Amino acid sequence: MNILVTGGTGFVGYHLIKRLATKGHKITCVIRPDSNIEKLQQFNIKYYFIDDIINKRIDFYQFDILYHLASIRHKWGTSWDKYIQSGQEFTEILLKSSIGKITHFIFCSSVAVYGYSEELPISEDTERKPYNLYGKMKLECENLVTLYNEKYGLPYTILRPSIVYGENDQQGMMTRLIKMIHNNSYHTVGNGRNRIQCIYIEDFINILEKIGTNFHPTNDGFIVSYKYPIEINNLVKLIRNELQKKVILDIKIPEWFARFIATIIEKIYQIGIELTGPEPIIAQEKVDTMVKDVVYDISKIDKEYDFKPIFSYERGINRLVHNLAQENKWKV
Ligand SMILES: NC(=O)c1ccc[n+]([C@@H]2O[C@H](COP(=O)([O-])OP(=O)(O)OC[C@H]3O[C@@H](n4cnc5c(N)ncnc54)[C@H](OP(=O)(O)O)[C@@H]3O)[C@@H](O)[C@H]2O)c1
Repeated sequence: MNILVTGGTGFVGYHLIKRLATKGHKITCVIRPDSNIEKLQQFNIKYYFIDDIINKRIDFYQFDILYHLASIRHKWGTSWDKYIQSGQEFTEILLKSSIGKITHFIFCSSVAVYGYSEELPISEDTERKPYNLYGKMKLECENLVTLYNEKYGLPYTILRPSIVYGENDQQGMMTRLIKMIHNNSYHTVGNGRNRIQCIYIEDFINILEKIGTNFHPTNDGFIVSYKYPIEINNLVKLIRNELQKKVILDIKIPEWFARFIATIIEKIYQIGIELTGPEPIIAQEKVDTMVKDVVYDISKIDKEYDFKPIFSYERGINRLVHNLAQENKWKV
């Protein structure tokens, strides 16, 4: 197939391109002038800039499908303008160029569009009510994708992954958690009984590839995650076992205290003092990630595409820990 990919220089994009290239697909990537394409050099890829699309220098008829992965990831302090530029503006440029030409527009959204629902598990029937600007941006992009389908018949699939983790992700939540546990700088906030639900990169790539190359567009949106969540305490235990780290003093930070510190640190950042680097070490949103109970129902994607993630938390964490150990020369 002839495939157009955005976000190819990112964590998910790299793994997707690797898979598609291995299967012999012809790949074209849309990048930015300062995108780092070093990791992609090993593949035979054609590159274009976003400007080439705006100035109609790319013939979209040549592509069968488009994976739109590019986006700013959720990051504290990112302005709405920046989210709009990477989200709505870029998405609309792609949508406009795809009308009548691309046979399947696959948009990578996020479970962030649902926010933190009181009713669990969150499914596709749950009201989409984002709690942060990132989720709001993803929801606006989803609305654009569906609008272009209704108005111009552009066929699409929207995927809403939960936390994706795996090798080559420097910024990811799981990578950071493992590094903190390794450095003995991790402390559980709250009682650690809340759950999160993730997906290992290979499982996510399996479904991305399958939907794009084996299925017709359903013009629908799907949550993508493991089938089951994991309690934070159990996740931490799993990582400690893999790292062979003994717990010396398991201090649990009360949520109220974490929120109190987060308020102070955020205020300091708002007046321009970067106390703990470009991002505050703790912020209300980060406390939410650590204490909120989140569970997703993946029966819709399973029913439609027979989606059965093959990596357990144990297997995924084992792979990532050993990869990080090799990269950072840790002894495990
Ligand atoms: N990883 C997760 O846990 C997760 C979970 C849910 C959803 N998602 C979604 O999955 C997709 C891929 O995520 P990822 O983890 O691979 O993210 P990533 O590693 O941060 O990569 C982001 C990609 O988007 C590009 N990009 C960033 N800002 C852009 C902008 N303003 N204009 C154009 N391109 C821009 C980057 O290009 P440069 O190289 O030029 O910076 C890079 O290729 C994203 O849409 C993300 O929202 C990810």
